[in-house]
Amino acid sequence: MAIAHVTPAPANPLRAGIDSGRIADPCNVVFFGASGDLFKRMLMPAIYNLRLDDILPTNFGLIGFARTPFSDDSFREYCKQSVDEFSRSGPAKESLWSDLVARIGYITADFDDTSHFKQLKALLESNDQEIGTAGNRIFYLATPPSVFPKIVAQIKRAGLDPRNNPAGWTRVIVEKPFGTDLDSARALQAEVEKVFDESHVYRIDHYLGKEPVQDIMALRFANGIFEPIWNRNYVESVQITAAETLGVEQRGGYYDNAGALRDMIQNHVMNLFALVAMEPPASSDADAIRNEKFKVFSAIEPPQPEGVFQMSARGQYGAGSVEGEPAAAYRSETDVAPDSNTETFAALRLQVNNWRWAGVPFYLRSGKRLARKVSEVAITFNQIPHRLFGEKSDTIEQNVLVIKIQPEEGISMRFNAKVPGPKNHIRSVTMDFNYGTGFGVQSAPAYERLIGDAMRGDATLFTRWDAVQRAWEIVMPVLDVWLSIRDRNFPNYPAGSQGPESAAAMNPKWRPL
Ligand code: BG6
Repeated sequence: MAIAHVTPAPANPLRAGIDSGRIADPCNVVFFGASGDLFKRMLMPAIYNLRLDDILPTNFGLIGFARTPFSDDSFREYCKQSVDEFSRSGPAKESLWSDLVARIGYITADFDDTSHFKQLKALLESNDQEIGTAGNRIFYLATPPSVFPKIVAQIKRAGLDPRNNPAGWTRVIVEKPFGTDLDSARALQAEVEKVFDESHVYRIDHYLGKEPVQDIMALRFANGIFEPIWNRNYVESVQITAAETLGVEQRGGYYDNAGALRDMIQNHVMNLFALVAMEPPASSDADAIRNEKFKVFSAIEPPQPEGVFQMSARGQYGAGSVEGEPAAAYRSETDVAPDSNTETFAALRLQVNNWRWAGVPFYLRSGKRLARKVSEVAITFNQIPHRLFGEKSDTIEQNVLVIKIQPEEGISMRFNAKVPGPKNHIRSVTMDFNYGTGFGVQSAPAYERLIGDAMRGDATLFTRWDAVQRAWEIVMPVLDVWLSIRDRNFPNYPAGSQGPESAAAMNPKWRPL
């Protein structure tokens, strides 16, 4: 039975209205790939903090399923270490941990061996009896993507598919990347469809779980002043940036076969694009919102192969210095080919061919080892039509609305004001909203929000297949051209810089990092 959590009266008036507790159904969550980095750094700490915030159902079971040999006890210890090391709320509190630990089990598994999946079925059924998890199951695919099809097929073979579970619900959370190109995404989807309906599938894009990303819809559709000017009549251009200072760290093996376009633009950046450009949905229902996201993607014309170099820029970092520390070139990172042609920076200019946005360029960029870590959406409004104030030397800057996603979380508006004094000097100033000070609370990490939503069956923040497929269709011509024509100038930006010069040539007005 679902346990309702009653939100206590907020002590801090700034927190009034913040829904910190929500009902999740009793369930088991099975983490395939539980011995991996994602589980240790993100997923296990998220589970613990969901428990801390009373969002986890009382009737809850967690099963790790991976190759690395663990006993139940040693896996429980591994989970505790992960919480102690990575939880946002500090080391595990004894009272909470003693309750959680009893619900954790582990199966050392060979993904090729159906008997291990049958063992999983038996454990799930025993948890249903003993913990009261009511037949509800989440399968979380946190393995390398190459194993996804195998796991999905084994789920069916072992009789763990939703059609064999009439007593409860079955959901599958699929980590990114969903495919490595359009064809492989379609092939993966074909395997998924053999076992799951779309309503069972929760494709994670952790950017959608970030609080300021969710606030894009609130900004647009819970305010009267923005929507009337959110169109080609007032907006000159839109820039979406996801810039990192980190390099590829220990993930060279994966990244060298991916690159910035596939790793960041096709998913995270395109999802931001959809939220900024979509039409108002008819309701806040998951499918009403996802229909609009798909519609706006349909209005973006994939580039023609011959136009790719005009509307894109790619880069790869060479040696340099980031935040005062020397940084090695991409080609000397571990597991990266010494003559790698993989881009660590990608920028695109796309157009939305509809009445709202015709003629407005959307500039997207993402890269590693750039000057500053910043993810943001910046909307630049048209220049004023006639100049009334200011001296000749004053620059009248255009209004810019910036949605700051990270590391700062907030919204800022740049506008012009008169400098105090007898002269009519004009200078640009900003009006800032910051989440931390505005609500007196720090946002929860994205994975917490998303796992909690999957437990409640709310798919709003998960990407639907039609949108994933369309996002691949949009980036494919660029990917094909970039893969077939080597960039002889690589490396073409020093670590710690603004990115390659070709990006500046494509858009001279990038906001400085
Ligand atoms: C991941 C990418 O999806 O997102 C990584 O695979 C990237 O390469 C990461 O570093 C960035 O996430 P965040 O939340 O730090 O912006």
